[in-house]
Amino acid sequence: MKGLILSGGYGTRLRPITYSQQKQLIPVANKPILFYAIEDVIEAGAKEIGIIVGPNKEQVMETVRSVDWNADIDFIYQGEPKGLAHTILIAKNFLDDEFVMYLGDNILREGIAEHANKFKANNYDASIMLTEVENPQEFGVADINEDGTIKRLVEKPKDPPSNLALVGIYFFKLAILEACKSIKPSWRDELEITDAIQWLIEKGYEVGWTKVEDWWKDTGKPDDIFEANRLILDDLAHEIRGVVKGGEIRGRVSIDTGTIVNEKSVIKGPALIGRDCLIRDSYIGPYTSIGNNCEILNSEVEDSVVMDGAKLINAGNIVDSMIGRGAVIEKNKRLPKGSKFIIGDNSWVRI
Ligand code: TTP
Repeated sequence: MKGLILSGGYGTRLRPITYSQQKQLIPVANKPILFYAIEDVIEAGAKEIGIIVGPNKEQVMETVRSVDWNADIDFIYQGEPKGLAHTILIAKNFLDDEFVMYLGDNILREGIAEHANKFKANNYDASIMLTEVENPQEFGVADINEDGTIKRLVEKPKDPPSNLALVGIYFFKLAILEACKSIKPSWRDELEITDAIQWLIEKGYEVGWTKVEDWWKDTGKPDDIFEANRLILDDLAHEIRGVVKGGEIRGRVSIDTGTIVNEKSVIKGPALIGRDCLIRDSYIGPYTSIGNNCEILNSEVEDSVVMDGAKLINAGNIVDSMIGRGAVIEKNKRLPKGSKFIIGDNSWVRI
């Protein structure tokens, strides 16, 4: 089975971070979201992986190539994001008769190995993964027949036929190619994968499904990134490799090499701090991930994602925040007093 992982798209809902960084490279627990997908696909047995790349293709390629994966990885350029089904058309020369398509911004705890096994064992033409959600109106939802087969898929239904939402991971045989060629673009001018799967159902192909039991997260919006970060940090192992010169370390905390925490700092886990950071006179609260080469000086930060090279200096109490690479938040000590900002397009600041 080959793997097709999607790392294109504009990620408009995560601007301004996605102006400079492809969405799938945003770190969750200090690891690009995309890496969780690659690991899952390899664990499920794929030896060849095609990664769909779009607007920031060099960035994605460089980041993926920085790791020695136990699989061959090809990059397939999509250009303009014209829909999930469009990526299958673009990738047609790469695909084999059985493949898994994994949206590179999805994370799920249980991995996909069991789901892949069921797809193969049942010899389905396609198999989707469904999970129970409280707000099916916001998802693609499956309408299930009494015998357990799929009747149809509906996008964001006002009156949902079930609470079973589609997870962004799909198993296909090559019949899906015919489906993707046959469908027309939707109202948003994209070739929709749900339309292609619906096409398979209507043509009498065998479309099965498996249920996701543990947590799953589609990281489309900032709150999703925070939640995914919390979920991953819930499994964090306590490991101190940096230098802790006293202070207070409570709960499960991971501190990487070269990082220095001074005696007046307090760190309350679960919290993750990368390499070569300086934490001085600061409080790092639960569910915070701090990347490499960061400085947190006389500041408090909690429930946040702080990316590589960021600095918080006399910054007060920062909560529920995503701080981009190399960003600096510092109290203004000069005159005139007052807040001073140099922030990018579509940034938002709540003070
Ligand atoms: P979406 O979240 O639907 O789209 P997006 O990433 O562009 O985000 P936004 O809606 O905020 O602008 O895409 C789901 C996943 O599929 C995501 O990992 C990006 C990827 N994708 C592609 O690779 N090519 C495409 O044509 C589309 C639509 C998405």
